[in-house]
Amino acid sequence: MAALRVVALSGSGRALLGTGNTLKTSKASMSFASLASRKKVALTTLGVVTAGGAGLALMLHQSVKASDWELHPPNYPWSHSGPLSSLDHASVRRGYQVYKQVCAACHSMEYLAFRNLVGVSHTEEEVKALAEEFEIVDGPDENGEMFTRPGKLSDYFPKPYPNPEAARAANNGALPPDLSSIVNARHGGEDYVFSLLTGYCDPPAGVSVREGLYYNPYFPGQAIGMAPPIYNEVLEFDDGTPATMSQVAKDVCTFLRWAAEPEHDQRKRMGLKFLMGSAIFIPLVYYIKRHKWSVLKSRKIAYRPPK
Ligand code: HEC
Repeated sequence: MAALRVVALSGSGRALLGTGNTLKTSKASMSFASLASRKKVALTTLGVVTAGGAGLALMLHQSVKASDWELHPPNYPWSHSGPLSSLDHASVRRGYQVYKQVCAACHSMEYLAFRNLVGVSHTEEEVKALAEEFEIVDGPDENGEMFTRPGKLSDYFPKPYPNPEAARAANNGALPPDLSSIVNARHGGEDYVFSLLTGYCDPPAGVSVREGLYYNPYFPGQAIGMAPPIYNEVLEFDDGTPATMSQVAKDVCTFLRWAAEPEHDQRKRMGLKFLMGSAIFIPLVYYIKRHKWSVLKSRKIAYRPPK
């Protein structure tokens, strides 16, 4: 008897499935067709306006993006890019030397003070000696005069130009941006800065760059106001590392990564601690949850009809 009923049910089910689709569509078109013509016009207009608006927005987006016209930097295997890798501090130290001897001629780093280098790339004595090499304007003294004195740990890195206008005037109208957080301020981070520094080349046939600009495929617009700042042997590293162009670029990028993100190593260490903590904490919480709910989850509710 039961088997018979199942057969009967599945039979009717199949019949329903077979006709279900056609039934539904005919119903839907019937409902649109049965609308008043005013409503039909309104609905159609709404559809057209929405589709048109979305199309227009997409078109405008594509036209201003223009991303096909610049070269995207490749992903370089930085020694600090792993989830648990710290910065290469010897590289940060060399990078500071590159900044000091090359980039500092044009670029400021307003948010860095000499004391920030202590314990990161240099010892306190070394940084004191570094700071003393600079003449810092201080004052006013008791006569109201500004005076210069040797730099101290608490001084910020001296700026190459007193104001942005002076910087522009000295660089053909182009403003060298502050490098404190440049790797966070540009798409591609250190990959971009590395590619920019090492990517200068001759313009392709048919392309000419204006006097005072240089061709660089990684720079948006390709014509950059910065002359190629580094080349092989542009400086001599204190630790004897051969100063090839790519080595210099890699070290200055590592330094700029540290400058933009001084908490880099601390952040990854905290991440590791957090993961280790959660490896214990999450199973424990899961166990307690199962334990507390076990009474509710394993109960059986039965309805006993009155006899
Ligand atoms: C002779 C001066 C000069 C030196 C030295 C110099 N730069 Fe520049 N830099 C400029 C100028 C000018 C610009 C602005 C270019 C522009 O907007 O067309 C610039 C722009 C940049 C930019 C920004 C590019 C962008 O996407 O906007 C970066 C990054 C940069 N420089 C890094 C460096 C590094 C790193 C060094 C040292 C190795 C260095 N520069 C040395 C003058 C200089």
